Amino acid sequence: MSGTQTWEADRYAKNARFVADLGMPVVDLLAPRPGERILDLGCGDGALTAKLADMAGAVVGVDAGEDMIAAARKRGLDAHVMNGHELTFDAEFDAVFSNAALHWMLDPDAVIAGVRRALKPGGRFVGEFGGHGNVAAICVALNAALRQRGVDGVERLPWFFPTPDEYRAKLEAAGFTVRTADLIPRPTPLPTGISGWLETFGENFFRAAPEGEAEQVKLDAIELLRPCLCDQAGNWTADYVRLRFSAALET
Ligand SMILES: C[S@@+](CC[C@H](N)C(=O)[O-])C[C@H]1O[C@@H](n2cnc3c(N)ncnc32)[C@H](O)[C@@H]1O
Repeated sequence: MSGTQTWEADRYAKNARFVADLGMPVVDLLAPRPGERILDLGCGDGALTAKLADMAGAVVGVDAGEDMIAAARKRGLDAHVMNGHELTFDAEFDAVFSNAALHWMLDPDAVIAGVRRALKPGGRFVGEFGGHGNVAAICVALNAALRQRGVDGVERLPWFFPTPDEYRAKLEAAGFTVRTADLIPRPTPLPTGISGWLETFGENFFRAAPEGEAEQVKLDAIELLRPCLCDQAGNWTADYVRLRFSAALET
C-alpha cells in the first residue's frame, strides 16, 4: 500500500539519514519510560528504534521493507517485516511510536485500527509524518513534468498528507483522545540535494513516466524546483511540513 516505492537501506542511509536525526522531538513527546513495551511502526533501518530501546523496557520494530528490517536487525533490534495496514498485535504495547512512515500508508483507518488493537488500555499513540502541504512544491513540479508527457501524476501521489483536523477526526473515531495534533513547517536541508531526495522517495512518479523518459522527468522537475528550493550556493532545502500528534486510549 505504499505504491511501487522500494526501500533500500543503503540508499536511505546515504540520502535520508536526516529523517531519523530530526525525529528526536517525537521521541521526547512520547517520553518512553523504563519497563514500557513500545512498538515502532515503520521503523525503517532502526535508527530511532535503537534510541527508544535505550529508554524503554522492550521495543519491537515493524516495517514493510525487507531490506530496512535486515538493517534494523543488524543493529540487534527486535524487528519484523509487517505491513502497517495489517498489524497482528493484540493489547500488548504501552505505546505505539511512528516517525516519517504513516504518510506512506494510504489506508489510515486500517492503520489506526491496528494500532488501537495493539495497545493496552491507556496506551499512547505518538508520531510524526507528512502533513497537509508537505513537499508541495516537489509534488507540483513532478506532476507538471509528467503532465507535459500526458501522464496524470496526481493519481500517482503515493502519500497521505492530512490536516490536523482530518487526522484528529480519524483518531477520535477509533476511540483515541487526542492530546495534540499540530502542523510544523520544517524547511529541511537535503544533504545529497534534490536529486538524492527524488531518487529515494519519488519512485512512484518516475515509474509513471513513458518508457525511457523517467530520467528526463526527474531533470525537468529539478529545473522547475531550482528557483524555489535551491539557494545561490547550490544548497537544496525541501519544503517539509510535519504533522506531529499525541493520542491515548482510556485506561
Ligand atoms: C521515511 S522511512 C522512515 C523510517 C524510520 N521511521 C525513520 O525515522 O528513519 C519510511 C518507512 O516506512 C515504511 N513503510 C512504508 N509503507 C509501509 C507499510 N505499508 N507498512 C509498514 N511500513 C511501511 C518504509 O518501508 C520505510 O522504512
